[in-house]
Amino acid sequence: MFAGLAALAGCGSPGSASKGNSGTLTFANRLRVPPLLEPVVTKDGTRQFSLTMQAGRTELLPGRPTATWGFNGPFLGPTVRAKRGDRVAMRVHNKLGEPSTVHWHGMRLPAAMDGGPHQMIEPGGTWTPRWTIDQPAATSWYHPHPHGTTAAHVYRGLAGLFLLDDPATAALGLPSTYGVDDVPLVLQDKILDPNGVLLEDPKPTWGLIGDQILVNGVHDPFFEVTTTLVRLRILNGSSARMYHVEFADRRRFHVIGTDAGLLAAPVPVERVQLSPGERLEILVEFAPRDQVVLRSVAGDNGIDEGDYDLLKFVAADRLTPRPPVPGRLAATPRIEVPADARERRFRLSGSDEINGREMDMARIDEVVPAGATEIWHVENTVYAHNFHIHEVAFEVLDIDGQQPPAYLRGPKDTVFVPGKSTVRLAVQFGHFTDPKTPYMYHCHILRHEDKGMMGQFVIVRPGTEASVPRTLPTHH
Ligand code: C2O
Ligand code: CU
Ligand code: CU
Repeated sequence: MFAGLAALAGCGSPGSASKGNSGTLTFANRLRVPPLLEPVVTKDGTRQFSLTMQAGRTELLPGRPTATWGFNGPFLGPTVRAKRGDRVAMRVHNKLGEPSTVHWHGMRLPAAMDGGPHQMIEPGGTWTPRWTIDQPAATSWYHPHPHGTTAAHVYRGLAGLFLLDDPATAALGLPSTYGVDDVPLVLQDKILDPNGVLLEDPKPTWGLIGDQILVNGVHDPFFEVTTTLVRLRILNGSSARMYHVEFADRRRFHVIGTDAGLLAAPVPVERVQLSPGERLEILVEFAPRDQVVLRSVAGDNGIDEGDYDLLKFVAADRLTPRPPVPGRLAATPRIEVPADARERRFRLSGSDEINGREMDMARIDEVVPAGATEIWHVENTVYAHNFHIHEVAFEVLDIDGQQPPAYLRGPKDTVFVPGKSTVRLAVQFGHFTDPKTPYMYHCHILRHEDKGMMGQFVIVRPGTEASVPRTLPTHH
């Protein structure tokens, strides 16, 4: 325990901060797996989940309690799990002492339930969105989205997973025993001073970048493997940091799912990249007594220098057999792009603008007919950004004219946009219409989002686009 702390203190010295922690961890702490949130099932079958945003104290470093925020506890949030067809009702109570929101990142739902910056929850207030889950199995998540303070709220600990199951893919037999062979890994970087104080020291371009990487809120973690195959659901829950994830022994693993659902077939890889907000589901095979470190290696995007050990897997002497990696996955149908698909262009410049404008809560930037499939061109004129669209699922058509790597050809809602490049997306919009309540699209580097690299779109009844008001009354 104490060795880990000494190593930490070393990491905090100036100059070493951007180089990573490689070789300094002792993997002393058991990985915490966020508990599953039990719903109350009401008379009509609705599954009601309660989340309370609250302040608390967490031992992020042994013996050094840190002031943090969390849902239903001092840090991070429980895992919400629901299946296709479920009616869900959320009760989100804000005990933070300042306004916030909770956004269901990856969820396809009416705009008023989305939890973006227009659905503020005042201190002491409770917000009660409800909707019916109607989308494929996926690893979604939830986090605050108050305009201007999202980065701080997420960094202090407000984030949780929202796992979606689908009876249609249950038969694949993928590992699904939560916390045993189906394990979420929430990757977040923090700056912790030697007393355990969580420092908020935003870098000018990238915002909150830390030199300690926590997995599910645990510093220096290990995970005990008890099965021959493990499914990991990896979330980049950081404000800006990129992760280039691989195993230290360079073993191959299989990507089975992207942000919004499963791939057509498992894709073997040695390394995957996740930008903030992205998720990947992977399958990893283990042999008895395997010990292997999962790490993130330095990239060349300008926001991800450093080699970081993340987590050590320690396999038991005997492992419970699991079926092998399936040859095919029940694929979500590919997004069909009609020949006359509408194309829209989004130009990212600096760190606070899209198409030359900062986010304005009172301005509707785009009006989309319900059910449309469109091609969105996201052109990045500067350094690295990424792009997330609420409500939709999209596929990456190409990056500078090149097909994306095979493991990214699944349904997504967030995509990395390298510096000075253009990403084309086939975007499928949903059917919930509401001309007065916008959804967001934005860079998921949270400082950029907070500063205004965000826009708003509404989904409306086809044919009514021209008559939709482009301004909204503001309440802020
Ligand atoms: Cu993960 Cu608009 O957010
Ligand atoms: Cu979102
Ligand atoms: Cu950005």
